[in-house]
Amino acid sequence: WPRTAVRVGGALTVGGVDVRDLAREFGTPLYIVDEEDFRSRCRDYRSAFPDGDVHYAGKAFLCREVARWIDQEGLGLDVCTGGELAVALSVGFPPERITMHGNNKSVAELERAVTAGVGRIVIDSFEEIDRLGQIAARYGRRPKVLIRVTVGVEAHTHEFIATAHDDQKFGLSLSSGAAAEAVRRVLARPQLELVGLHSHIGSQITDVGGFEVAARRLAGLLVGIRDEHGVVLPELDLGGGYGIPYVEGDEAPDIKVIADGLREITTTVCRSAGLPVPRLIVEPGRSIAGIAGITLYEVGTVKDVEGLRTYVSVDGGMSDNIRTALYGANYTAVVASRESDAAPMLSRLVGKHCESGDMVIRDLWLPSDVVPGDLIAVAGTGAYCRSLSSNYNYLPRPAVVAVSKGAARVIVRRETEEDLLRGQP
Ligand code: LLP
Repeated sequence: WPRTAVRVGGALTVGGVDVRDLAREFGTPLYIVDEEDFRSRCRDYRSAFPDGDVHYAGKAFLCREVARWIDQEGLGLDVCTGGELAVALSVGFPPERITMHGNNKSVAELERAVTAGVGRIVIDSFEEIDRLGQIAARYGRRPKVLIRVTVGVEAHTHEFIATAHDDQKFGLSLSSGAAAEAVRRVLARPQLELVGLHSHIGSQITDVGGFEVAARRLAGLLVGIRDEHGVVLPELDLGGGYGIPYVEGDEAPDIKVIADGLREITTTVCRSAGLPVPRLIVEPGRSIAGIAGITLYEVGTVKDVEGLRTYVSVDGGMSDNIRTALYGANYTAVVASRESDAAPMLSRLVGKHCESGDMVIRDLWLPSDVVPGDLIAVAGTGAYCRSLSSNYNYLPRPAVVAVSKGAARVIVRRETEEDLLRGQP
């Protein structure tokens, strides 16, 4: 739950605001972001990496207001499409603190990144080296680039979000020599300034070991590059992926422990090879935004399926949170509008979409007196819920409201029927 979430007089408050007031004023379903929580996690990262760079991964959740928070907190920003880049530039986010990712950036996206002067472009393929080299020459620019390396780590997470084993689409493989070949090709292009290496092993990873193996292998490659080319690269970007607790009992790595481990490994490898220690960059998304956000729903129906469980339907579902259906993700939720002493009953929190896979929480204990009109708050929805949302079944996307110090304000307005019909003849 967000750092400021407490029950006052039975009802849940976040950022000093009663969720019942939020539901009345802004409607449900509603994404609520605890601004204090979000910002404090940015600060935690900055103090864990005092001499490195922390780049928030915008894919977790980005809107104009969040881009402003990231800027104010002094973090950098990762974007992976022209759209995310446009959000950042629209609020005057300093382009030199932006890193552009993507395994298939279009020419238009690369041109925009180059002409806007983004700080780093992460090269993900051989084609991109040529494409970016030509664009840089055309515009008379010399972009700083990192090469994304597939380090061959088996990250223990869902297959769809593991990215460091060889059989997936991202990066250039370390073991096959593709990464070393990419280094050669980039160094042969005077239009590109190679500043370092990048790896991202996956997301929602709770075992620190994988990050350490990645750091060791990348640092080893830095040594190899110095030996082969006489070039000392100043940066190592180790990506994001730090897991968060979604349900009770989930383990989450401590960010200070991670930071110390990564620093120690890169320092040891580089010092023993007589190489200066590179600047470390990390790209957390979920671990900044995830816990800060909750989703508020209103219960519409309570259906007891004899002898099995109770289906509690809310007014949103897989369009505002696809993660349960897509990854088998697990969440926790409470009745937020009141306290209840009723005995717990085995429930399934489901949405209003036309398919039975539309579950918000597969197995959940809710008080047996839950009734239509109750508000349910689901925890840990700040990352990859709004950003993966859809209009399935023509449901308008919920608003996003930021709460802080007893006040609430809309940072993304609720979609309307007009929005849904826009663009159709
Ligand atoms: N850097 C790069 C290059 C990435 O690809 C990602 C996430 C991150 C940083 C941030 O990872 P984080 O710290 O948020 O784990 N939709 C999935 C997650 C996909 C993550 C994609 N890349 C989910 O809902 O679990």
